[in-house]
Amino acid sequence: MKLLAFNGSSRGDLGNTDRILQPFLRGAREAGAETEVIYLKEKKINHCTGCLTCWSKTPGACVYKDDMPGLLEKVRRADILLYATPLYIYTVSGLMKNFMDRIIPLISPQIVKRGDQYIHPMRYQEEWPKKLVLISSCAYPERHHFSGLLETMRLFTSGPDFEFAAAILCPAGDLLKVPELQASIKWYLEAALLAGQEVVRQGYITPETQSVLNRNLIDPEVYSRMACAFWKNVRAGKDGAAELR
Ligand SMILES: Cc1cc2nc3c(=O)[nH]c(=O)nc-3n(C[C@H](O)[C@H](O)[C@H](O)COP(=O)(O)O)c2cc1C
Repeated sequence: MKLLAFNGSSRGDLGNTDRILQPFLRGAREAGAETEVIYLKEKKINHCTGCLTCWSKTPGACVYKDDMPGLLEKVRRADILLYATPLYIYTVSGLMKNFMDRIIPLISPQIVKRGDQYIHPMRYQEEWPKKLVLISSCAYPERHHFSGLLETMRLFTSGPDFEFAAAILCPAGDLLKVPELQASIKWYLEAALLAGQEVVRQGYITPETQSVLNRNLIDPEVYSRMACAFWKNVRAGKDGAAELR
């Protein structure tokens, strides 16, 4: 089973989101999957111009010969697609959105009825991942900030052959990289590892593991006070991180 992950953070493997992605992938490998991560910040991906040449003159092929055609080949061969993105203004990052828009060559222009709704089917029905996994982190300490992102992914997977298999959403994600907090968030990273194993073995995250992943890393009120102190110190040119210790 091939699990192909795209990390849309501008900070790449130094970011908060990657702190969750890595144990998840380790768990997936332990369960037998082959994994690969593409850091979108390292790729040349032009934004979609909306010309729809990929739906007309050259079906399935974009006018741009940047890194995207090679990435689409990889997507076609994957069983599980994983989007790892920081929350940027309540949705995916710009890097991730550019990538998501450029998936259009793999989608058919036809609009057909499937069940009780109309969808664009996949261009290559048998060559498209069966499942989507979402990993995201944000700075606010509350979970509801992810609601727009979740809805986007629900709609993206609303066709009959593509399942939104799992979501790991981490509010107060800026804590994930604080060296002094590593021991106190170990439980969370262990749950992310377990989630990777479960998605590969069972196809979903069990309710037990999901309930651990849905726990707050910190009390929101404490976090907001720490964040205010941190930024006050940064503005004053002091070691802001000292406030987080
Ligand atoms: C341009 C920008 C927009 C952001 N928008 C939000 C937001 O809408 N809500 C939020 O809670 N955090 C927001 N954040 C904070 C990031 O989501 C958060 O720091 C995240 O953990 C960063 O992940 P990364 O280190 O993997 O990039 C934003 C950060 C940036 C730079």
